[in-house]
Amino acid sequence: MRTTLLAVLAFTTLACGPARRGPPFGAPRQFTEQEQEGRVLFMRHCNQCHPGGAAGLGPAINNKPLPSVAMRTQIRHGVGAMPAFTDEMLDDAQVDAIVAFLNDLQEAKD
Ligand code: HEC
Repeated sequence: MRTTLLAVLAFTTLACGPARRGPPFGAPRQFTEQEQEGRVLFMRHCNQCHPGGAAGLGPAINNKPLPSVAMRTQIRHGVGAMPAFTDEMLDDAQVDAIVAFLNDLQEAKD
């Protein structure tokens, strides 16, 4: 009886592995609610030219600390091949969310 119990205990311990583990390799980043919204908007409006923030048709925007005001101006007015995003396309809160997401991406690159 006692050995059976020990055997069961040993089995469950081995089968389930240690109770505590480190975070899984490549754990998803923790975004604030605003950054998460920005990420969704970025995927919808920006990702085709800046895939994952890296260079595509547009230059990489995740590898250098761009001032928030510069990103806002770029989004609102566009430069060169980059289209301008008007109020109807993205309201101010949405632009702020995208900028927050990009700031987080740029910090993560350091
Ligand atoms: C149609 C393609 C296209 C889309 C869509 C696009 N971009 Fe761009 N983006 C570009 C190009 C091209 C440039 C380079 C413009 C130049 O300097 O001539 C650029 C430049 C930028 C820069 C400046 C990079 C630097 O090094 O100074 C930022 C920031 C940026 N884009 C953010 C965004 C964001 C945010 C969105 C979505 C709201 C977006 N872009 C959507 C093509 C695009």
